[in-house]
Amino acid sequence: MRETVYRPLRAASRVCLDGMDRLAAKAQLIRLLQRAYSGELAAAHAYRGHWRAVKDPTERRDIQKIEQDELHHREQLGKMIAELGAAPDCFLERKMSAIGKTIGVLCHISGWYIPMYGAGRLEKSNVREYEHAARFAHLAGEERLIEDLLTWAETEWDHEKYFREKARSHWLRYLIPIWTPPATREAIRSSFDDYRRINAITESGDREPAPNAV
Ligand SMILES: [Fe+2]
Ligand SMILES: [Fe+2]
Repeated sequence: MRETVYRPLRAASRVCLDGMDRLAAKAQLIRLLQRAYSGELAAAHAYRGHWRAVKDPTERRDIQKIEQDELHHREQLGKMIAELGAAPDCFLERKMSAIGKTIGVLCHISGWYIPMYGAGRLEKSNVREYEHAARFAHLAGEERLIEDLLTWAETEWDHEKYFREKARSHWLRYLIPIWTPPATREAIRSSFDDYRRINAITESGDREPAPNAV
């Protein structure tokens, strides 16, 4: 059966066409990084509960490694936010910490499939979050942040693939169907390169790109 695959990210190219200026882009970037920073805390708490709940030693190690990846992202995000002259959002921190801890506890009573399924869906949204952040960093003129953001999008892509393959191995996939997978890993960088190229053309005034060109 042919698999439906998500098209590469497009939304931020519309932001460019709307004429977002650097200051507005920087404000959006900071907000996105604050959300990602607190989201990584929630993910780390949830994965701690998740790996403690699974019985298979390999799965325990795999999910522990993913927890470490999220904590690394969070540490680096904290530095980025400070570099941009901002600070984490205290309200978001409390809220996402509570959500993550709650999910971590629920992993002990929700069986094997639901935590794998939920993690995969979450990871898919994380891929997009970092792709968006890279585009806002470009619009804000914060080019030095882009490489890390794209690398983290790739790591989240690897996480999504791991959980998708786990979920696919379970019979409950027939009752709770697997989500549509993201575009290919390579598309993270190629779609960003297309976006940057088209944005450069727009800025030089050579021609107006089509709204859905990227
Ligand atoms: Fe992460
Ligand atoms: Fe992740």
